[in-house]
Amino acid sequence: MKVLHIGDIIGRTGRKAVQTFLPAVRAEYKPDIIIANAENSSGGFGISYAVYEELMRLDIDILTTGNHVWDNKEVEKSIDKMDRLIRPANMPEGVPGRGSITIEKNGEKFTCVNLIGRIFMGLSDCPFRKFDKIMEDAEGFVFVDFHAEATSEKTAFGLYADGRAGAVAGTHTHVQTNDERLLPKGTLYLTDTGMCGALNSVIGMEKYAPIERFLTGMPRKFEVEKRGKILFNALVFEYGSDLKVTGFSTVCITSGD
Ligand SMILES: [Fe+2]
Ligand SMILES: [Fe+2]
Repeated sequence: MKVLHIGDIIGRTGRKAVQTFLPAVRAEYKPDIIIANAENSSGGFGISYAVYEELMRLDIDILTTGNHVWDNKEVEKSIDKMDRLIRPANMPEGVPGRGSITIEKNGEKFTCVNLIGRIFMGLSDCPFRKFDKIMEDAEGFVFVDFHAEATSEKTAFGLYADGRAGAVAGTHTHVQTNDERLLPKGTLYLTDTGMCGALNSVIGMEKYAPIERFLTGMPRKFEVEKRGKILFNALVFEYGSDLKVTGFSTVCITSGD
């Protein structure tokens, strides 16, 4: 089985990057399952139902999210209709939506878990203990999208999940790391898959507001960068019938003006 994990899709530019590059990526790697992080897919903040449907039309199997999941106000009401979208599983009890999903592909079970870190992040329960709980009855290959800021927390989680999750890939920083490797007990680990959006941007946003904010500390409204080259970041991997990863590589494509 081959899996493609696409990094945070940033607004219309990110969706354009996916529409532009996914056909070629699909042709080259032939993934059986496609997962994408969609927490920034609507205007850079959150996801609307219309964008959810647009991404589903691209034959993406599962959408993960993160700290921006509630930014678009309509999500709280529509999340139950988005049956292929998950939010971090360790959000407090009673929060709408669900944090993991099991699908069947080619007669095999595949579970995707979304967790969120707690360093430089909002309120959530312990992602490590939540993972233990989920693993008690998780079915098939387990993939974890660990949505976190700190590389230390992500690395610690990877090693904690080693030998239990099939693969752990990070999201949230929007910058692809080059530390993909099999951990000692066989789990595939990557600190961050990266993003789909404008290449010459500040993690997908026009540079002006973030630079001014760094210069002055004043609040400024961030807008999705719509110009220039576009970037597509993903992780692709393959696993066998013993649920062990046998091959993997990061994907990084840029083009257009
Ligand atoms: Fe993000
Ligand atoms: Fe995030």
